[in-house]
Formats: sequence, C-alpha cells, structure tokens
Amino acid sequence: MLIQLTYASRTAAILGPGDVKDILQSSARNNQSAGITGALCLSNGIFLQQLERDRTAVNALYHRILKDSRHKDSAIL
Ligand SMILES: Cc1cc2nc3c(=O)[nH]c(=O)nc-3n(C[C@H](O)[C@H](O)[C@H](O)COP(=O)(O)O)c2cc1C
Repeated sequence: MLIQLTYASRTAAILGPGDVKDILQSSARNNQSAGITGALCLSNGIFLQQLERDRTAVNALYHRILKDSRHKDSAIL
C-alpha cells in the first residue's frame, strides 16, 4: 500500500551549492532505483521532504536520511 511521509528538518550548517547538489544526485539515483517518489524543498535553512512508496521502503529511507549530519531536528508532519 502506498504511504506518504512528510517531514521537516533544519540544515545543520550553511549548505553550499555542492552540498545541495550531492543530496539531489543521491536522491535522484537511489529513489529512482528503489521506486520512491516525492519531493524535496529547501528554503531559509528548512528542508521539507515527502517520500512515497510502501511503508517498509519509506521507513528504511527515512531512517537513513535521519542519520545524515547535514540536517537536524527532523519532525514528521
Ligand atoms: C534533507 C535530506 C534529504 C535527503 N533525501 C534523500 C533521498 O530522498 N534519497 C536518498 O537516497 N538520499 C537522500 N539523502 C541523502 C542520504 O542521507 C544519504 O546521504 C544518501 O542516501 C547516501 O547514498 P549514496 O551513498 O548513494 O550517496 C538526503 C539527505 C538530506 C540531508
């Protein structure tokens, strides 16, 4: 069953274009091969991301993203 998980987090430091490009490249590559869809926004130091697929796939990805030191204070909305 398709589920959607939406969370917001804060950037851990000021991110440069290279950091954002790295996140986008990993996301595009991994999410496509895992069949995960969604969206990622970054504005004023706040990430907002929606992840869509079955619960197992979304949980696994969210827990990987949680460990990423480029952001902090994640909260599921
Ligand atoms: C806010 C944020 C959102 C991220 N979203 C994704 C994502 O949707 N998919 C993904 O694979 N990695 C995402 N990442 C990156 C992962 O934390 C991790 O660095 C990456 O999956 C490692 O994969 P790689 O070794 O293939 O680069 C995100 C990181 C941050 C900080």
